[in-house]
Amino acid sequence: MSIHLLLGQTLGFSGNPLGDWHDVTHHDSAGGVLIKGGLIAAVGNGAALRAAHPDATVTDYGDALISPGFIDAHMHYPQTAMIASWGKQLIDWLNTYTFPEESRFADRAYADDIAARTLDLALAHGTTTLTSFCTIHPASVDAFFGAAATRNMAVIAGKTCMDRNAPDTLRDTAQSAYDDSKALLDKWHGLGRAHYAITPRFSPTSTPDQLAALGALWAEHPDCLMQTHLSEQQPEIAWVRELFPQARDYLDTYEAFGLLGPRGLYGHSIYLEDREIDRLAEVGAAVVHCPTSNTFIGSGLFDLMGLAARQIRIGLATDTGGGSSFSMLRTMAAAYEIGQLRGTALHPAQLMWLATEGSAQALHMGGQIGHLGVGAAADLCVLDLASTPAIAQRSAQAHDIWDALFPTIMMGDDRAVRDVWVAGIKR
Ligand code: GUN
Ligand code: ZN
Repeated sequence: MSIHLLLGQTLGFSGNPLGDWHDVTHHDSAGGVLIKGGLIAAVGNGAALRAAHPDATVTDYGDALISPGFIDAHMHYPQTAMIASWGKQLIDWLNTYTFPEESRFADRAYADDIAARTLDLALAHGTTTLTSFCTIHPASVDAFFGAAATRNMAVIAGKTCMDRNAPDTLRDTAQSAYDDSKALLDKWHGLGRAHYAITPRFSPTSTPDQLAALGALWAEHPDCLMQTHLSEQQPEIAWVRELFPQARDYLDTYEAFGLLGPRGLYGHSIYLEDREIDRLAEVGAAVVHCPTSNTFIGSGLFDLMGLAARQIRIGLATDTGGGSSFSMLRTMAAAYEIGQLRGTALHPAQLMWLATEGSAQALHMGGQIGHLGVGAAADLCVLDLASTPAIAQRSAQAHDIWDALFPTIMMGDDRAVRDVWVAGIKR
């Protein structure tokens, strides 16, 4: 079995830093990560690990920062080719840009092409796990899981289900959504590093019958994740109120049909009412913050610290292509900016945690991915903290790791990603 030792600065967490980050954050300016059999076998002082493992193949990254690979907890791989489409807010954006593009995934060759392109772009940006919506076409799910398997990437994905308020070419039915989702789940869930997520797009595009069918499927497979959208934009929320007059609130349109649970992932969750927050906290569900999307589509300011104070798990995500970047660095920067607009300056430790361990915990994969610790997958991202002249001149002034890292968080992109390792193999 090959043994690799990576040397560089390391940054790890022994707890959630959204409260006090000092005690749970561990930085080593001369650290090392030992990799065996695709997993992290040790994290510690680089020189000591080198002395203890003379047989290891050594890669010395100098001052670069070895971090867990980034984990994108909500994105749409079928929207890769239409990222940065101009001038619309959510519902118009879906109808004008998104649905026509997603219709193209009836063509399996196109789906294969975009799945491969998306995963390669993700890796180039240091992202080693994606949680993706696919399209209504079952083959779009096969394309994504197949492309991820080729790269040995841990991914979460599911067939997007819609049986109303979408073009004919993008509508299934309650029964076909159940049948197709079940067949895909049986085929992919747990195969290699693939995880299936039951995926109603959002309640405006599903009838109550479809939501109930997917709720029943989830009850039959409670170990699966369920991903959807919640309370992203005011006109969307008003539309949900019209479509579901009996519902107490937006979350209730899921809850009433068995689609609220601890493995639920609720993307956006910006305009939550008190009852919704209470219920998310009670059941232990996770919300996913998509900050570049929230500014790009004009949605609003997510209350990260308010929800964290309620112990609600929070993932961080690009929401490609509503989000405007494939980069989780850019995503952290947007989270910082939204935090500032809400009166909280997120610390670099908190931002890095959200993009790695926080997302992993939202996905119920804490300790397996996104974690710089023994037994976690050796899915790693090596960050150059002086990747452009602008960043280099700023980090040269830094007085500690946070001051050195923050310019890369705010101004970095794929040029900051020196190397990416997936399951112990350099890509
Ligand atoms: N709500 C329903 N579908 C979508 C989508 O594709 N992107 C975003 N941002 N919000 C949605
Ligand atoms: Zn989304």
